[in-house]
Amino acid sequence: MMKIAFFSVNQKEKTYLKRKLGKQYKLEFYTENLTEANAHLIKDADVVSVFIYAKVTKKVIDTGKKLKLIAARSTGFNHIDHEYAKKKNIAVANVPYYGENTVAEHTFALILSLSRKIHKAYVRSIQNNFSLEGLQGFDLRGKTLGVIGAGSIGVHVMKMAKGFGMNILAYDVNHNHILEEVLDFDYVPLEDLLGKSDIITIHCPYNKHTHHLLNMKNINQVKKGALFINTARSGIIQSEALYYAIENGIFSGAGLDVFEGEELLSEENQMLTKNVPKENLEAIWKTNLLLRNENIILTPHMAFDSVEAVERILDTTINNINCFFEKKKFYSV
Ligand code: NAI
Repeated sequence: MMKIAFFSVNQKEKTYLKRKLGKQYKLEFYTENLTEANAHLIKDADVVSVFIYAKVTKKVIDTGKKLKLIAARSTGFNHIDHEYAKKKNIAVANVPYYGENTVAEHTFALILSLSRKIHKAYVRSIQNNFSLEGLQGFDLRGKTLGVIGAGSIGVHVMKMAKGFGMNILAYDVNHNHILEEVLDFDYVPLEDLLGKSDIITIHCPYNKHTHHLLNMKNINQVKKGALFINTARSGIIQSEALYYAIENGIFSGAGLDVFEGEELLSEENQMLTKNVPKENLEAIWKTNLLLRNENIILTPHMAFDSVEAVERILDTTINNINCFFEKKKFYSV
């Protein structure tokens, strides 16, 4: 019987996976993320299934002596050395479509919270302060939204933006002119998008081409006072540029579902007792700087996390695994 090791699963997901896969495969479940430190757990696994905080490095891949498939339960797969896996003839699967609307809805939750200062009003209201002072927001209608990466999620964001009466600019390495006409937006060079958008939102993948796409060289091209939203991956903006833009009012606010050191936050309380690498402490320190700024909203990489989307992730992963063994087409990267 083939053995599948699932990492970063909670009780609800475990029950669901057991019900759907328990008869055909031997299943093992771990709540922790797969990293080099616990790679011995996959020594005799045929399949491993991981979430975004796993670090599937060469060393991890080499530990899985029987490994045939790495099934990512996410769209992004930058946490897996997929090129090395391919070299070793190990397939890598992902879940490309599960939460286009889900992530787009969270993007708008961040935009609207900032534009109408909902986060500030909430904090005040629980302190019994109902003054309007400093809470005036601004309309989205007539404003320009700049979408970096007009793929599945980006397109959903654009559709929603249309409902708010916004103008839309997009920067993408691929152009779909039918989409451009139907959704009534314009593809523009990155420089133009940065200079003309009132709100900039990132929806491209993180890879060597998008690493620090926004950086210290181009951050001054941003329209002064724009809002910045990132629900994609933190490395797409150089953190130095993000801090510089916030400190100098280039970004008047930011909604970040992804940020440097996000994976460390839930462990922050254990930090004092553990031997923590210096760069981790630095990342947490930077996050605390962000948290102290009242024009910044951080959410803990939760844009994907709706009841419906998580069920779609599990169903696609189950299908990827079954199709792999049945030699049928699946979402391979
Ligand atoms: P997608 O592949 O449908 O769209 C990505 C778009 O980015 C494509 O149109 C592509 O042409 C464009 N692109 C690629 N390289 C580019 C570059 N160098 N410059 C500009 N554009 C470029 O992907 P999808 O489903 O829209 O997801 C986008 C990203 O969102 C994922 O890669 C993932 O990192 C992130 N994500 C975050 C989630 C969260 O919970 N916060 C959940 C799901 C996805």
